Amino acid sequence: MVRLQLLLSALSVALSHQACVSDDDCSLNGVCSRTGACKCDPAWTGDDCGALDVRPAKRNGGYNMTAEGTSSWCSKIVQDPWDRGLHHLFASEFTHGCGLDYWAPYSRIIRAESRTGPAGPYRFAAEVMGAFAHNPTVVYSPADKEWLLYYIGCPTQVSDTCQSQSFTCGPGNDLNGESGVSVLSSRDLRHWDFKGQVMQGDNSTDWDADVTNPTAFPLYTSSSCGREASAAAAEHGHCPGHTDAMLLVYRGCPFNCGGSELINVAVSETGYKGPYTKIEPDPIFSDPNEDPFVWRDKRGNFHMLLHSLEPDGGFGWGPQVGRHAWARNYTGPWTFGNKTLAFGTEVQYDDGTTIDFFRRERPELFFSEDGEMTPLLLTTGVQERNSPMSYSIAVPLGDAGVRAQNQQY
Ligand SMILES: *[C@@H]1O[C@H](CO)[C@@H](O)[C@H](O)[C@H]1NC(C)=O
Ligand SMILES: *[C@@H]1O[C@H](CO)[C@@H](O)[C@H](O)[C@H]1NC(C)=O
Ligand SMILES: *[C@@H]1O[C@H](CO)[C@@H](O)[C@H](O)[C@H]1NC(C)=O
Ligand SMILES: *[C@@H]1O[C@H](CO)[C@@H](O)[C@H](O)[C@H]1NC(C)=O
Repeated sequence: MVRLQLLLSALSVALSHQACVSDDDCSLNGVCSRTGACKCDPAWTGDDCGALDVRPAKRNGGYNMTAEGTSSWCSKIVQDPWDRGLHHLFASEFTHGCGLDYWAPYSRIIRAESRTGPAGPYRFAAEVMGAFAHNPTVVYSPADKEWLLYYIGCPTQVSDTCQSQSFTCGPGNDLNGESGVSVLSSRDLRHWDFKGQVMQGDNSTDWDADVTNPTAFPLYTSSSCGREASAAAAEHGHCPGHTDAMLLVYRGCPFNCGGSELINVAVSETGYKGPYTKIEPDPIFSDPNEDPFVWRDKRGNFHMLLHSLEPDGGFGWGPQVGRHAWARNYTGPWTFGNKTLAFGTEVQYDDGTTIDFFRRERPELFFSEDGEMTPLLLTTGVQERNSPMSYSIAVPLGDAGVRAQNQQY
């Protein structure tokens, strides 16, 4: 008995010197090696692989139209599949020269283009949806063979001078129209069709009466729908393992967002049009966050980046703005990475300058297309100190991200 206790205490001493016991201790962003140290995947770093491996960014990169008097936010990069030297960036930008404070109702969704690699600089190409349309994120749906653009908003008349106005785009909010998730679809990234509001809030007293900040990921698999499966079974959607299900992660808050901003996960088993069912009635973790971005990695694990509303993060309150959360199954349990900051407010540039941004939010990733799902670039909306304007930056992650940033076409 004494021996066993000695053995156990020796073991716990040994373990306490180890960074990891399982891959969960490596934030599922790497593997726990036999020596008890995490071996992080590319783009991740730190003892627990919980920090993005950010590298110096191109000083003139991203989508920065502030010199022309235009602010932007929420950028998502997509490589053109027919013209590999062309990258598209979908973003919201504010009409009438309005700054970030007037995102509602002045936000519209635009497409910008870069022929100098995915890090930009991007130039305006076309309007996708007029005001009020905000929070765009684009994902390819293999089940539909189309790109889907999830966003919030509804067509709204705006006045010529920047001013707030009360309006609604559906139940959950009648102050700034943020509640309710809509989808556009496109086969060529240039022409977009409105497919409807796929998720609505409600006027209840629930914690998530107001639903906003959508981020989607297709759970699509075609497994055993290959040559071996009978054509009849495939036709009726009965191939074992086949799913058109769509994952939708959102931020909820009480009616008119009069309370905590928390995160939940919903899924539609029947494709992107819904109905979306919440995986549980409660938020998936108690820490306040907004702006989730969700993806499934090469191992089948699920991850989120979040804009943290902790006291040292939030809206200009401090540098702790970027958090990571992970789960082996989207149904949970989800672990919120409160130990290691995923990214902060400071960005280093390749000309040796550094900017410590006032606000840095709405993280989204641009991934490699080699099947590894390696994050190459982190895009965020940023606002400098003492400026009402905002813009969109793209920061390379790890060596692969630096290579992508410097790619010449
Ligand atoms: C964005 O543009 C503004 C206005 O030209 C400039 O002051 C700022 O330095 C630019 N930001 C970056 C990161 O280059
Ligand atoms: C929700 O409340 C708004 C006003 O706050 C109202 O216009 C709308 O009709 C209500 N919707 C429902 C479904 O009750
Ligand atoms: C994920 O969880 C759901 C619900 O508990 C379960 O049906 C499914 O099999 C799980 N998926 C995996 C890959 O474990
Ligand atoms: C991090 O989260 C864990 C689990 O919820 C909790 O026990 C711990 O107190 C948290 N740590 C900090 C620094 O908030």
